[in-house]
Amino acid sequence: MQSETPQRILITGGSSGIGLEASKRLIQKGHQLTLLCRTEERCLETMKTLSAERAERASAEGLTINLQDLQSVETGCGTLLQKNEPIDTIILNAGIQNVGLKKPQFTKQAIEETFCVNHLAHQHIVMRLLPLLLKSKKPRLVITSSEVHNPMSGGGRVGKPATLGTLDGLRHHKHVAMINGQIIFDADKAYKDSKLCNILMARYLANKLKQKGQEIPVITWSPGLVIPKGSGGFFRTSRQHNPIGLALFSFVARDLLRLTETVEKAGALLADLADGSNDEQNGFQYISNQLISPGRHIFKKTETSQEGENEKLGEELWTLSKDLIEHKLLECHSIECN
Ligand SMILES: NC(=O)c1ccc[n+]([C@@H]2O[C@H](COP(=O)([O-])OP(=O)(O)OC[C@H]3O[C@@H](n4cnc5c(N)ncnc54)[C@H](OP(=O)(O)O)[C@@H]3O)[C@@H](O)[C@H]2O)c1
Repeated sequence: MQSETPQRILITGGSSGIGLEASKRLIQKGHQLTLLCRTEERCLETMKTLSAERAERASAEGLTINLQDLQSVETGCGTLLQKNEPIDTIILNAGIQNVGLKKPQFTKQAIEETFCVNHLAHQHIVMRLLPLLLKSKKPRLVITSSEVHNPMSGGGRVGKPATLGTLDGLRHHKHVAMINGQIIFDADKAYKDSKLCNILMARYLANKLKQKGQEIPVITWSPGLVIPKGSGGFFRTSRQHNPIGLALFSFVARDLLRLTETVEKAGALLADLADGSNDEQNGFQYISNQLISPGRHIFKKTETSQEGENEKLGEELWTLSKDLIEHKLLECHSIECN
């Protein structure tokens, strides 16, 4: 069904999985999408897929932004700022997990990849594009987190829990494997930590905007466990490193125990959050798609983890992340970054 008012929606991670499904829905509803894709090729492929879904009035354009490269984020945001067009919704959905890797992968600016893609590049986008979002009459920010940010949740209990310590890994602007400053890399914990960063950043931003009298909905959400069939997507690194283990896990979790959500349903949930089909409540919200019995989920407002409520930690994370982004961009100006 087409939306009465087409909205201008910007999305990261719209080229695959949950984000692609959400983009299909949004374009079917007649919205105007800007998709930030990793490469020009991914942009073209995604535009081609979406063109088959396009409703009248709808539009989709791709902009190449590699979230592993802060200079690419800076340049892409610069292009959007030059256009100076309001954005109604920003969806920060891109995410990676490097489970299976024993050693951290660092971006060209020497930042651990998971942290850079899932949190830092997204904070960078918010810092640069907030003025365009606030130009909208009905702005909203939607961020895809995960229940694993919460050590008390089913997934969060498996392996080392998410916790950022005193953020020591962000203080010295150099290669650090983990946000808490730990040198030994734990890919699963790095992912959980990055999803906790999503929650903390959203809460901080919602409060900050409220203080300034510019309150908007800042919605974080968790899709549940989503394991689409096929070779790409979210579990690609795990699959490369342990194909049999991942095949077994997928079969048991998805097909046998029915613990997973479908990618289509998760995409539909995201699309509804993005165009305000649900509700219009201002301020921070966390909504989780929780498994209640095999094959059945309930999508409801939920408490975040205790650490996710720590406003002081959120403020510090924002400040240290901002410092790191600015430091890395300055370095890019003084050395060859491309
Ligand atoms: N799947 C789950 O079980 C699950 C559970 C909880 C939360 N989540 C969260 O849901 C979100 C979407 O995950 P998904 O399952 O849909 O995974 P996915 O299919 O792998 O999609 C991830 C998206 O992020 C993009 N991306 C990754 N690195 C990028 C980079 N350097 N620059 C630009 N874009 C980049 C990907 O682009 P390409 O297409 O070019 O790779 C893709 O569009 C993530 O934030 C994830 O943490 C997923």
